[in-house]
Amino acid sequence: MTGESDRRNLLLTISAGNESSGLLSLRPNVATTQNRTSSSDLLLAIESSCDETAAAVVDRNLNVRSNIVASQTDLHARFGGVVPEIASRAHVKRILPVIDESLSTAACGLEDLCAIAVTTEPGLVGSLLVGLTAAKTLAAVLEVPLVAVNHVEAHIYACRMASSKEVFPAVGLVVSGGHSNLYDCVSAVDYELLGSTIDDAAGEAFDKVAQILGFSYPGGPAIEQAARNGDRAAFRFPRTFLNEDRLEFSFSGLKTAVLYEVNGTPGSHAAPPPELTEPRIADVAASFQEAVVDVLIEKCRQALQRQNRNRLLVGGGVAANSRLRERLRGLADELGVALVLAPPEYCTDNAAMAAIAWELLDRGQTTPLDCDVIPGLIRRREPATARSR
Ligand code: KG4
Ligand code: ZN
Repeated sequence: MTGESDRRNLLLTISAGNESSGLLSLRPNVATTQNRTSSSDLLLAIESSCDETAAAVVDRNLNVRSNIVASQTDLHARFGGVVPEIASRAHVKRILPVIDESLSTAACGLEDLCAIAVTTEPGLVGSLLVGLTAAKTLAAVLEVPLVAVNHVEAHIYACRMASSKEVFPAVGLVVSGGHSNLYDCVSAVDYELLGSTIDDAAGEAFDKVAQILGFSYPGGPAIEQAARNGDRAAFRFPRTFLNEDRLEFSFSGLKTAVLYEVNGTPGSHAAPPPELTEPRIADVAASFQEAVVDVLIEKCRQALQRQNRNRLLVGGGVAANSRLRERLRGLADELGVALVLAPPEYCTDNAAMAAIAWELLDRGQTTPLDCDVIPGLIRRREPATARSR
C-alpha cells in the first residue's frame, strides 16, 4: 500500500461501503504527537479483548465524545461463559458498525482522528486480533500513530476518567471476569503488579456461583440483585489468605464451598441439602458476595499500608458491585485515603478507558504497525517506560 488511491480504496473497503461515514471526503491526516496542538484533537479507541466490541472517541482533555459497546452476552449466555470462537466471529461482524457508530455519535470523521488506540493485551487471541487488525488498517491509511493499550491498565485508568484531577500515584485494584490484580500505580503509565489471583478471578467466581444458583451469564449483577434480600452471615464461606500477609487472591475454594453448600458434598453421608428456595438463594448470594468483598477489602488495606500510598483506585466489572463500593468507601474513611472508583459505565469493558493512550502518546510511546497481540497476562515488574511493544 503506497499511494493515495490505495489508501482511499482500503478505507472504502473497511467502511463496508458506507458513504455516510464521510470517507469519500477523506483527507489524509498526518497529525503526530509533535504537531498535536488543538484540545479538540480526537483519539479513536478500539476494544475487543473479550466479548464486548467497543469503540470510543475521546478528546485530549479526556472528554468522551462517544462510547459504543456492542455486548455479546446473548450469544454466550447459554454456554455459561464466553466461547472464544463465537466471540471472535461476532467481533468480525460488529467491529466496523461499532467504529462507524462511534464516529457518527462523536460527530466526527476519520479525518479528525489524530491517533488510533487499541487493546493488544491481555485477552482472547482471536478477539484481540480483530480489534488490532482494524486499528492497524486505520492507522496505516490515515497515517496517524497506533497506540497499543494494556486492557487491565486501562481498567485502572477508568478511574482517571472519573476524576477532574490527577489520581496517581496510588494503589490500584482491578477486579474483572479475567483478573484480580493489585498494582502500585507509580504514574498513569507505570504500574507495578503487587499480586493477583492464583486461580479464579473475582468476576469468574461471581459467574460460576451464579451458574450454581441458576442465574445466567454474566452472573455478577444477578448475584448482587439476589444478595439484596439475603443474610450476609447465613453461611460462613472461606476467605482465603484473609489474614495472611500476602497480596494474592484465591477464589476457587470459595466457589467449591458454595457448590457443596447448594448441592451437597460428594461422598458425604449427611442429609441432602435443603431445597434451593428463593430465600436460600438470597442467603447464599449475600454470604458469597460478602466473602469476596471481605477479601478484596483486606488486600486493599494491606497494599495501601505496604506501599504507603494515600490513594486507592478500583476498576473492572466487579467494581460495579454496590456492596463492594460501599465497603471500599468505609475502608477509605477508616484509613483516611482518597478513593476513586471507576464510574459504573466504565467498570465493565469499554473503549473509553483506552484513553490511557493519550498518556502514552504524550510520552512518545507509540506502537509499530508490525506489533502483535499478547493474549496471556504477563507479570511484569519493570516500569512501563521500559516496554518494547
Ligand atoms: O471488566 P469486565 O467487563 O470484563 C473483563 O475484563 O473480564 O468484567 C466482567 C465481569 C463478569 O465476571 C461479571 O460477572 C462481573 O464483571 N460483574 C459484576 C458486576 N457487574 C459485572 N460482578 C459483581 N457485581 C456486579 N454488579
Ligand atoms: Zn475487562
